Amino acid sequence: MLNPVLENLPENPFPRLARLIEGVAPGGGNAAPILMSLGEPQHPMPDFIAEILHSRTHEYGKYPPIQGSEHFRQAVADWLNRRFCLRTHKIDPERHILPLNGTREGLFSIAFLVTPPRKDGRQPAILMPNPFYQCYAGAALAAGAEPIYLDAARDTRFLPDLDAISPQTWSRTALFYMCSPANPQGAVASLAYLKRLAQLARTHDFVLALDECYSEIYTGSAPSGGLQAAHDLAVAGEKEPFDRLLVFHSLSKRSNLPGLRSGFVAGDASLIARFRNFRAYVGPTNPLPVDAASAAAWGDEAHVEQNRRLYAQKFDAADEILGNAYGYVRPEGGFFLWLDVGDGEAAALRLWREAGVKVLPGKYLARGNIGDPYIRVAMVGPLEETIEGLRRIRRTLDP
Ligand SMILES: Cc1ncc(COP(=O)(O)O)c(C=O)c1O
Repeated sequence: MLNPVLENLPENPFPRLARLIEGVAPGGGNAAPILMSLGEPQHPMPDFIAEILHSRTHEYGKYPPIQGSEHFRQAVADWLNRRFCLRTHKIDPERHILPLNGTREGLFSIAFLVTPPRKDGRQPAILMPNPFYQCYAGAALAAGAEPIYLDAARDTRFLPDLDAISPQTWSRTALFYMCSPANPQGAVASLAYLKRLAQLARTHDFVLALDECYSEIYTGSAPSGGLQAAHDLAVAGEKEPFDRLLVFHSLSKRSNLPGLRSGFVAGDASLIARFRNFRAYVGPTNPLPVDAASAAAWGDEAHVEQNRRLYAQKFDAADEILGNAYGYVRPEGGFFLWLDVGDGEAAALRLWREAGVKVLPGKYLARGNIGDPYIRVAMVGPLEETIEGLRRIRRTLDP
């Protein structure tokens, strides 16, 4: 009697990893295991968050509005306009923004809003990079679309090759999930690439969902964003400059607040209005104290700069410890290492058994065999622990 589509969702990477190492004691002697599998930031959260939450506990007595507070939307609009240099076409806090209870739920539920029963007379397709954040595939399947996995390997700089997509696929595409900086490879899409995607969305009438939750963790210059691309494409006087585009941002990685569950979606005003309407049925809202704390976090860059410095120290250590082993190149963005170790699943098991280091096999994040040679290493812990983890990886895999 259960819905077979939901019954057949692929197993999530983390239970799969738990099964892989079930009953295997962590190695590493008396030293504590080092967990580098989950992308859960461990850096300090901004100190003003607790203060704001405490001072507003009375607001837990109110139902929060689906569109969040004016104050939250203004803080987000100011941040987006500033961060992505939006000058001639600005984000309007009233029309272009919707808060999310973390971006995962929004990334999932958008598929239901934008997937018609048929497109171009066929089953709609939802495109996504491969490897990918698992939520995209679950959403595509649950919404009745065919997920199409676009290989993003080294030869295409870890981004999907847009030229490899056939006209037949484009014409039935309802939604394109793109992640930049990418989880797991850390690849960043250039402004030119994003402009091309935004243009393709208009030409083939699909929605572009850009997952930008790692946009504030980068090494060199700040990654470009989808709004910037749409802004640059828009002509003077255009009614909807962010046509068919939605960008997703989160405080989980930017501000080390994964447990606050706070993000937002911004972009195409008519999509945002429809999404708000849809979410009035199903969408979780952000409690008002969370809304206020989030507004303060989007208004502050000092803690974000400090956060980047902490990641830079860890990437400096990775540069030194890994050199160019396992195809390592310092990623442009994000906090993961995507290491080619030959057989990622065997390496993950060995790292746990022999060194007490938990990493994720790349194959659990991909379809086909593109992820098989890789492990994903999350550099989210404290510096010393991360250095120790990287040393153990090196020692174990290259004895
Ligand atoms: C690529 C990507 N997108 C979205 C999310 C969801 O983040 P949150 O729901 O905490 O905003 C994550 C979390 O790990 C992620 O890696």
